[in-house]
This record gives sequence, structure tokens and C-alpha cells, in this order.
Amino acid sequence: MNNHTEDHRQHSVSSPEIARRYLAFFRARDHLQIAGTPLAGTESTLFVIAGMQPLLPWLRGEAPPPAPRLTTLQRCLRMDDADAVGVNGLKLSGFNMLGNWSIGDYGRREAIDFARELLSEIGVDRSAMWVTVFGGDSVSHLPPDDETIQQWRRAGHPEQRIVRLGSDDNLWTMNSPGPCGPCTEMFIDRGEAFGCGQSTCRPGCSCERFLEFWNLVFIEYEWQRDGSFTPLPLRSVDTGMGLERIAAVLQETPTLFETDLYAGAQQRLAELAPGGGDSPQQQRARRVIVDAVRSALYIGLAGVVPRSDGRGSVMRRLIRRAARQGRILGLDQPFLGELVAPLVERAEDLFSPDEQRLAPQVAGLLTHEERRFARVLTTGLRLLDRVQPESGGLVSGEQLFLLHAERGFPADLAAEVLAERGIAVDWPGYLAAMERHHAISRVSVRHATDVTE
Ligand code: ALA
Repeated sequence: MNNHTEDHRQHSVSSPEIARRYLAFFRARDHLQIAGTPLAGTESTLFVIAGMQPLLPWLRGEAPPPAPRLTTLQRCLRMDDADAVGVNGLKLSGFNMLGNWSIGDYGRREAIDFARELLSEIGVDRSAMWVTVFGGDSVSHLPPDDETIQQWRRAGHPEQRIVRLGSDDNLWTMNSPGPCGPCTEMFIDRGEAFGCGQSTCRPGCSCERFLEFWNLVFIEYEWQRDGSFTPLPLRSVDTGMGLERIAAVLQETPTLFETDLYAGAQQRLAELAPGGGDSPQQQRARRVIVDAVRSALYIGLAGVVPRSDGRGSVMRRLIRRAARQGRILGLDQPFLGELVAPLVERAEDLFSPDEQRLAPQVAGLLTHEERRFARVLTTGLRLLDRVQPESGGLVSGEQLFLLHAERGFPADLAAEVLAERGIAVDWPGYLAAMERHHAISRVSVRHATDVTE
């Protein structure tokens, strides 16, 4: 499909409507709806990475929850897989997670029944649905989750579409010690046209045939720093449904980027860069841009501004990356701020009135940052054009370090540009160059102090 025309797509059910129906479904089943917390609101990670994060004290039994059943819509940001955004049409850095929780209340049976009931209510084709479950493994030394398999069978899910996987796929953790547990994930089979063609292609395959859209985690363990798993005082259920993903399922879009959530921004981008083209690289550029702008908007709405460290550095990285992708579409004047209003307008119900008022200011921050970076970007890209790998096939780390130190061009962005030309970077060499530079600076400071004393 041509991204330029995607705004003409009729979106059968809008994303805000899906969110509204999800939350109403769980409210009608005694779940208390709580507000999502600000994206930058946690201590343990820079940003909220999952809907359960703000609930940690309750899941650990450290404090009583306001109700044993909860539901919410939580904005999340995950930068660990950010490089895959755009190449893979199902990955995002920032996204919205719908969730329902049982804090020591219901278990597997009810969680699965609720899921099946909601999915038929919103019109998900169950005949195309697959599930994965934790099959146990020698990495975690945890047993297979037979109870979940039994519950799917009891609920009528066909045996041949239940896949058992190991801890990489079906033992959910926050990627760091903390509450965790076996999980069961729901996928839609989108057909061979989206697949890799391998006979082994199943949920868990890295291709885009099976779209994972909802994860039910049975939070039962605390993953300790020594690697062991100890039982938690409560057995809880933590679920996460990616709003963008369920929207892609219901709106039958080839990737997340054709859903209604991005349609306005894609259309604006097409207007700004009418000759942008449809090569894979240009298509990827559009995806990276709209993803990065939305994530930067989310970060900005949490009160963060672009900086060189902490949360602000993530915002800066997103903006710079998107600005560079703009060059691929022929955009060399600031344009990112222009995409903010269409992102908000298409999803008004997902932004509070305060956030809607604040959005133009965040757009201004994006434009300001982009303008500041424009010259560095132009010069850096010109210099990078001339960079060639050395005899080992890698670009010297020293060159990349100098590009950063002398021209302000970020090394990660330089590496991304080079990677598109199939060239890798000598990262140990980069670190060594940085270390040498710091050592020289220390000597110079000492020397200067000796002289002045
Ligand atoms: N916490 C689970 C997840 O993020 C639901 O997938």
C-alpha cells in the first residue's frame, strides 16, 4: 500500500473507540478504572515501560490496592528495540497499553474468559487466533504452565493453535529484577502474505505474519537479584493489550502505521514531502518519523525538555533521528513540529484537555531542537558520505569519536547512517578514543593547575 494514500482508508472502528470499549467492558466487570500515570513518573526506569509498573507496590503486597480489580490505559515508552522501528512495521517506541488487573483476586480461568468475551464483543476473528504459553525451561528452572493450557482448552481454544515457548517469550519480566510470571500471549494470524514462508513459522517467529496484541501475565514470582524466583504473597494477573496493535487487527492495516492513530501525521508528512517516494528506505523514514514525533510528544507532555542527559537525552535522540530521516524524504527545513497537531487531533480522547492545550508548546520544543541541530546534521551527513571502512571492514571508532567531539554529530546517529550503507563501526575503538581523549583532558587540567599554582 502507498503510504501517501493511507488517509483515504476507512477505519472501521477508531482507536479511541476501542479504548473506550475495553475500559467500559472491565468497568462493567467490577474493575476500578484508574488514571494512567505520567510517562516519566517512575524511579526504577527512565520511563514507564508497562501498564503494571505504577502498580508495583500493590502487586508485591506492600500496600493495599484501591480495589482488587483495576483497569487503565497507560502510555509507555520502550527504547530497547527502537532500532527495529520502521524496519518492522509492528514495532513502536511509544505506545498505549490497555490493561486489566487482578491483585490477588481472579486467576487464569477468569482472565482467559474475560479476554475471549471482550474479543468477540469487539469483533476479533477467533478462528485466526493463536496463543502461546510458558512451556517451562532449564534457564528459569520454572515448570510449564499447564494450568493455562488447560484453561485455553476448557474455553474451547483449539489445541493445534496453542504454542509452548520458553522464558524468552513467555516468562514476562520488566527486564530487571522485580515481580514477574509466566504469560500467555494472543496473536492473530494475518496470513502467508505477511510471513517469512518458513515451514516453522509460528507465533514467536520474527516475521510479521503473527501479530501479538494481548499479553496476560500471571504475576506470581519476584525475580531476585541473584537470579532466583521466589513466590510473591499474592497471585495476581497483569495484562497488556497494545492499542496500536489491536487497532491494526480491527482496522486490518498492513502495519501499525496505517492505523487511524498515525493517519493524520502521515497525511501531513505526505503534504510536506510530496516527492518523498516509496522505496523501502523512504517508507521506513516515514514510520520512524511519526513514531519518534509521537514518542517525543509523549515525553514532552510529561514535562521533559530535550537535554544532553537523562530523559531529555532520549527526547533529543528521538528528535534528531527523525530530523535525519526527514532528509531521506528531501526535508531539510524543520518540519517535526508540524506533525504534532495531526497526531493529537486524530486521537483527541487519548489526550487530556490540559495535554491538548500543551501540545503546541511541545511542538515548539521539537522545532527549536530541530533548528539547533540542522547545521550539525547537514555537515555531519556530508562528512559521513565520505567515510569508508578500514581494512577490517569497520569504520574506525576514532573517526566517529572526532565527528562527535569536533562537530557535535551523535555517534549513535552516525552508526545508524553508516548501517544503512551496510557499514559497521569499531565500537571498542570508539571507546578507546574516548578514553584517550579523557586522559589527555585530565593531564591538561593537571598541567594547567600546576602552572597556575
Ligand atoms: N506487563 C505485561 C506486558 O507489558 C502485560 O506485556
